Amino acid sequence: MKNTPAIIGAMDSEISMYLEHARIINQHQWNKITFYEIELDGQPCVICKSGVGKVLAAMVCQKLIDLYEPSCIIFTGVAGALNDKLDIGDVIISKDCIQHDIDGRALGFERGTLLFSNQKIFTADKKLVSLALAAKVDGHKLYEGRVLTGDQFFTHSDIESHAYLKTEMQGDCIEMEGAAIAVVASENKLPFVIVRTVSDKADGSAAEDFNRIHHLVAGNSYAIVKQILSQLKTEPVDLQCELSE
Ligand code: ADE
Repeated sequence: MKNTPAIIGAMDSEISMYLEHARIINQHQWNKITFYEIELDGQPCVICKSGVGKVLAAMVCQKLIDLYEPSCIIFTGVAGALNDKLDIGDVIISKDCIQHDIDGRALGFERGTLLFSNQKIFTADKKLVSLALAAKVDGHKLYEGRVLTGDQFFTHSDIESHAYLKTEMQGDCIEMEGAAIAVVASENKLPFVIVRTVSDKADGSAAEDFNRIHHLVAGNSYAIVKQILSQLKTEPVDLQCELSE
């Protein structure tokens, strides 16, 4: 299966509903990763679980690209909210992504910038973003926003040392894979979008909220991604890969 959309989630709870509702056409095992070739509402696509964090996300994304040469990459999952406008269950569609924990300031690079490059902000595909924003999810709002990514489950948005996430970096939500996917997709000149439902507010009760609810709210990202796929099926679009700033 080549040239279809590819979907990646980090955890079982982020991809289980796709597998429950899809027709599984084929599956391919690579180490611990299973790549599923599926048909969802008549739209062929490939889906897999990467595992949590930037390293696994990047590794699996590149392997998926090498195996399936997808038309675009869609990440589906949950995130902690940084923007006070966001409530649990609301969905953030990535305008762009930054790795918040890459820090070469000692060498003169702005925080978030890939060292020895000027790459910091990775812009999502505008058409995928607009298809996502045109979708609906019952009882919840959709926002276009900035996704911050790092290898920490974040539980202290109020702490001064991390105020930069909201001030300097202008983050709307925080998670652990999106910018890694963005870097790999961009290197491969592939369009991408990150679709994240708020599972917690990245604060003192984040761990409790996340554990209680992540498997339920992940369904909102699924609802949005299904609507993107159905649009791509009915009117195949010319997706453009944006170069990062
Ligand atoms: N994913 C969901 N909630 C998160 C948080 N608070 N920090 C990092 N990743 C998350």
